[in-house]
Amino acid sequence: MSNVLVTGGAGYIGSHTTKLLLRAGHKPIVLDSLELGHPAVFKFLPGATLVQGNTGDDQIVRETLKKYEIDAVVHFAAYASVPESVGNPEKYYVNNIAKSLTLLNAVKDAGIKKVIFSSSAATFGEPQYTPIDEDHPQKPTNPYGQTKLDFEHILKWYDVAYGIKSTWLRYFCAAGADPEGELGEDHTPETHMIPLSLFAALGKRPDIKMFGLDYPTEDGTGVRDYIHVTDLASAHVLALGALNGGAQTNYYNLGNGKGYSVKQVIDTARDVTGLPIKAVEAPRRPGDPAVLVASSEKITKELGWKPQYGDLPTMIRTAFEWFRTHPKGYADK
Ligand SMILES: NC(=O)c1ccc[n+]([C@@H]2O[C@H](COP(=O)([O-])OP(=O)(O)OC[C@H]3O[C@@H](n4cnc5c(N)ncnc54)[C@H](O)[C@@H]3O)[C@@H](O)[C@H]2O)c1
Repeated sequence: MSNVLVTGGAGYIGSHTTKLLLRAGHKPIVLDSLELGHPAVFKFLPGATLVQGNTGDDQIVRETLKKYEIDAVVHFAAYASVPESVGNPEKYYVNNIAKSLTLLNAVKDAGIKKVIFSSSAATFGEPQYTPIDEDHPQKPTNPYGQTKLDFEHILKWYDVAYGIKSTWLRYFCAAGADPEGELGEDHTPETHMIPLSLFAALGKRPDIKMFGLDYPTEDGTGVRDYIHVTDLASAHVLALGALNGGAQTNYYNLGNGKGYSVKQVIDTARDVTGLPIKAVEAPRRPGDPAVLVASSEKITKELGWKPQYGDLPTMIRTAFEWFRTHPKGYADK
């Protein structure tokens, strides 16, 4: 059992992970500014403690680490919009690097030696081959991906100098919602493909835009690897178990190894919901690669990770159930 500080635990992936940490017998202390997160998630996370605060607030961080005798940190708190980061890199460097570093220095001073970090497929940039494994070159094409790569490097050197062991999990596209229907995805603004398709199905938006129909893929639309948020969450529990068992600093890609095109996602959303979805053609967005598919062989082999909700219809069905039953999201703001 670990006392785990979960930064960003009131957000989408953080709340699903907190649920599984509780189930695995750990004691999660969530540090979240609630700028983007949702206090309503705690109704479904009995046993988790919320500390409302910022990773950049040195005093709150240090007090929290001490008060709750934290022995491991799962660090989700970050901004995560690629287009926003291109327009406003300062916002991303300040939050994802400077504030994360305030957290990490407090972790170091408290003598905590275990950190799990939310990294991203965005660290790889334009794929040179597919599926993308851990040895693929990392050349981010936007500030968001760069901040994630920079923090991986910071963690590497904090191990060399201070012995902090860390696991960097590079997620591909997180999707779906808690299969028990308690937690879901409530981002404002929403930018992800599956929620936007479902909003079009539910009449919350007039249509879904398909950016680029001239990619060198089977149907001309971009291909992405989707991973169910609960499968992502379970990878964090395994990573924590490995660190508790003495694992060295390591890094893993997390996807399903299967790519789905934009058209396939929309068609599957039509099948799953039984509702019409109007799809509209739009030009390519700069920096969007044609295909992004992960190899997750390493985490499968080394940590025994096994996705339970890896098929696209299940991801879409769980997301749809949550959006259908929560037409205004958590409605807690
Ligand atoms: N969603 C994806 O598909 C995806 C893919 C790759 C990587 N990631 C990474 O996973 C992590 C979680 O993503 P998400 O989709 O759950 O995002 P989210 O916005 O739902 O959750 C992030 C949470 O962090 C909190 N937060 C942000 N900055 C903070 C700070 N300085 N101090 C305290 N709290 C802060 C927000 O209030 C929010 O609750 C992020 O680090 C993101 O970069 C997400």
